[in-house]
Amino acid sequence: MKEIKIGLIGLGFMGTTHFGIYKNLPGAKVVAIADVDEVKLTGDISKVVGNIGNGDNSIPLDLTGIKTYQNGFDLIKDQEIDIVDICVPTPFHTEYLLKALEAGKNVFCEKPLCRTLDELKKIKTAVAESDKFFNVGMCVRAWPEYRHAWELVQNGTYGKVKSALFRRLSPSVDGNSWNNWFMQEKMSGGAILDLHLHDTDFVNYMFGAPTSVTSVGAKALVSDNGIDHVVTSYEYDNGVFVTAEGGWAAAKNVPFEMSFQIICEKATIKLDANGYNIYCNDGTVITPELNVGDLPTGWHQELNYFVNCVRDGVTPDKYQTPESIFNAVATVMAEIESVESGKKVEVKYV
Ligand SMILES: NC(=O)c1ccc[n+]([C@@H]2O[C@H](COP(=O)([O-])OP(=O)(O)OC[C@H]3O[C@@H](n4cnc5c(N)ncnc54)[C@H](O)[C@@H]3O)[C@@H](O)[C@H]2O)c1
Repeated sequence: MKEIKIGLIGLGFMGTTHFGIYKNLPGAKVVAIADVDEVKLTGDISKVVGNIGNGDNSIPLDLTGIKTYQNGFDLIKDQEIDIVDICVPTPFHTEYLLKALEAGKNVFCEKPLCRTLDELKKIKTAVAESDKFFNVGMCVRAWPEYRHAWELVQNGTYGKVKSALFRRLSPSVDGNSWNNWFMQEKMSGGAILDLHLHDTDFVNYMFGAPTSVTSVGAKALVSDNGIDHVVTSYEYDNGVFVTAEGGWAAAKNVPFEMSFQIICEKATIKLDANGYNIYCNDGTVITPELNVGDLPTGWHQELNYFVNCVRDGVTPDKYQTPESIFNAVATVMAEIESVESGKKVEVKYV
């Protein structure tokens, strides 16, 4: 099996999560890491907060044999690398991404892809001009329960969808990031862009691009000026009723919640604290068995898939096309505009 060589930019929460996943992916190898923080480049990740998926952060990472750079642009020049994986704070995505595509690399970039619509337009042009592969960490598309529900809806297994609700509620992330960038609206875009975007993206994936959105939100609950809680209605010509809610202002000890309820003609598909279940109108309850093997999360699924596509020369379009990702980012930008203006906003697709 040809080994696919990965250069990882950013060794914070998401970078260390990706690092741990690649370590166990057959035929994938992280050969270079870039981070502005010299300490992390020694393998000391004790300052990285949040350890879902990457184990105990007090144990240093073994970076033996891995080239390290403090500047991501130097990593991009490294001839050995097949995939540049970008896991830095959102405002730094665009420059790295454009340079990596220009250098002829395949690119995996973390969500929410970029901070502004102007950046989105530049990325769209660069992706169109590149003959390399490009995917974004819109991991919910590949998250086993969400993917299963998506397949049920695509196949019309339980009839048409009548209404759908998605929720993503996090304890406060104040203090959880490099220089506390999540709490700076100019950097993260607040919870609406950094967190709720996952559901905006999944709504796009399941129902297509909405024509307009109506959002209400609360600003500066924990961050300096970000929209820290939002509720959105996504409007479609076919009238399906779709809403999503997201926020990151709760007390630190509140468990993270990601949930959905999709009401179809013959059953309700639901993920919540009771697990993933299908409640049929005839009274039966089905708990689907999800065969995830060694790839328990959407992060595992998406990276495994992308690495395999690069190795096999297969366009990575199982979960996403660039256009569907650009549409999701344009939709969340319309949501921000709707909160700010207090009006329904037509989505401006780029
Ligand atoms: N897909 C998901 O579920 C998910 C979850 C969390 C974060 N993310 C995304 O991942 C990205 C990173 O978030 P995080 O939680 O890992 O943040 P973090 O603050 O934990 O880590 C950021 C890392 O980038 C480094 N860094 C900062 N500026 C840099 C630069 N210019 N060049 C190189 N390194 C730099 C920092 O030293 C730090 O190690 C964000 O875009 C975020 O939205 C995705």
